[in-house]
Amino acid sequence: MITRIEIDGFKTFNNFQMEFSPFTVIAGTNASGKSNLFDALRLLSNIAEFDLKTAFNNTNLRGEALEQFSQYSNGEFAKLMRFSVEVLLDSFISDNWGETTKLKYTRIRYEIEIMRERNSKGFDDLSITHEVLKPIKHQEDVWVKSHILKGLLENWRPKVIGRRGIPYILTEQREGKTIIRIPQDGKPGPGRVSVANKTNQTLLSSINSVDFPHVFAAKQEMINWRFLQLNPEVLSKPSPRISSDIISPNGGNLAAALFRLKIEDGSFLLDISRELNNLLPDFVKVDVTEDVAENRFVIKLISEDGREFSSRVLSEGTLRLLTLCILKYDPKYKGILCFEEPENGIHPYRIAMMIDLLKGLSTDLYDKEDSGLPLRQMIVNTHSSVFVGHLFKSNDFPLNFSVWFSKLVTNISSKNDKKFKFKATKILPVREGRGQLKFDFVSFGELEMTSLEVDRYLKTKDFEN
Ligand SMILES: Nc1ncnc2c1ncn2[C@@H]1O[C@H](COP(=O)(O)OP(=O)(O)OP(=O)(O)O)[C@@H](O)[C@H]1O
Ligand SMILES: [Mg+2]
Repeated sequence: MITRIEIDGFKTFNNFQMEFSPFTVIAGTNASGKSNLFDALRLLSNIAEFDLKTAFNNTNLRGEALEQFSQYSNGEFAKLMRFSVEVLLDSFISDNWGETTKLKYTRIRYEIEIMRERNSKGFDDLSITHEVLKPIKHQEDVWVKSHILKGLLENWRPKVIGRRGIPYILTEQREGKTIIRIPQDGKPGPGRVSVANKTNQTLLSSINSVDFPHVFAAKQEMINWRFLQLNPEVLSKPSPRISSDIISPNGGNLAAALFRLKIEDGSFLLDISRELNNLLPDFVKVDVTEDVAENRFVIKLISEDGREFSSRVLSEGTLRLLTLCILKYDPKYKGILCFEEPENGIHPYRIAMMIDLLKGLSTDLYDKEDSGLPLRQMIVNTHSSVFVGHLFKSNDFPLNFSVWFSKLVTNISSKNDKKFKFKATKILPVREGRGQLKFDFVSFGELEMTSLEVDRYLKTKDFEN
């Protein structure tokens, strides 16, 4: 679960910082940087898995490698890009070899700085100039204090026994050289070392087993950030018997996943049917059957009057809502889901119910029942004032929830040794579960200003309709 991010030199971000709740909604006007924030998470996730060239040229990013760096008013691009991200991890981590281990620290901070330099042949080289992975000290951990019920704190963040606060990856200067190394992470010996001015791959990406438990856990966390882009065409297809039974970000394998749930425990289908029926009263039952002749699984919805409809003929909105219902009850679904404009394809009338569903897809750190289950986080961006309006209307504003408003502000930024005008993203809190709105990076004036802006935003035509 991401709890905080800091970004500098990437797209519209200039000394940017924001915090997250298990369910985080970012609203705002067009081109204010909402999707850019998701792009930043995508790039970080790529960096945790691949070397820099591959990470920056991945087709999952919008724009070419150079366009990921902030472009200033004179057309120049930033030479340095910096990210810090703080996470809350699940206590247990397993690798592909079936080894499992318990983490000493579940609160971790990862910092990475990437430099872009034109070489003599006219190509841009990318290299890592700073990489740090370290535990967040308990006494400095403000997020935990305000986001987890006190009585449940130790379930999510175990007590630390023995030596404390040693970094798992660190950057240091030695004889004029920048050295990045993994000191130990629980193992004796020198760990792994790389010289920073040559590094074109993160140390994080080089670890593949629980031998370095915290490094591996941080890497797993980041490479598993998923970006839900439900594709109705994919959703409507039956799953071949040979397919994976895990729902993919575009909605693939939906029927196979539902079939797994049906076999595991019949009550899953009842829960999913009830959930969908709440949203779409026309459908009373969700089922999945084996198409023996074709060797595949087919989803069927049964209507109030007893008719059966296969996924192939269902509407796009129905398929989207059905997927969310299945994800909610799927015990294999965990981690972070980034969801762009969930309101797309959903009638405004259903949005309030959809919000409840999204809420159910994120862990409640104030709820005993969620304690010990794998962490789930939902990060949503929207430019629908209907969506935001419903969030504010709800009386039982949940504790695990926060709403943010994104806008562009003009900054004077001194980068590349010069001063530039720069349109930068600001994402400010509007409402959060505990209702206190205390963030050290936001002034009282900014909060007041944002709340006026949100009032105006909510009065747009879209909302009145
Ligand atoms: N490298 C860059 N440097 C500076 N600004 C950039 C860079 N790349 C993109 N931008 C700006 O970011 C804007 C796009 O922002 P983004 O896609 O995050 O908007 P959004 O808030 O998601 O809007 P919408 O609600 O329309 O989806 C572009 O219009 C452009 O002005
Ligand atoms: Mg967008």
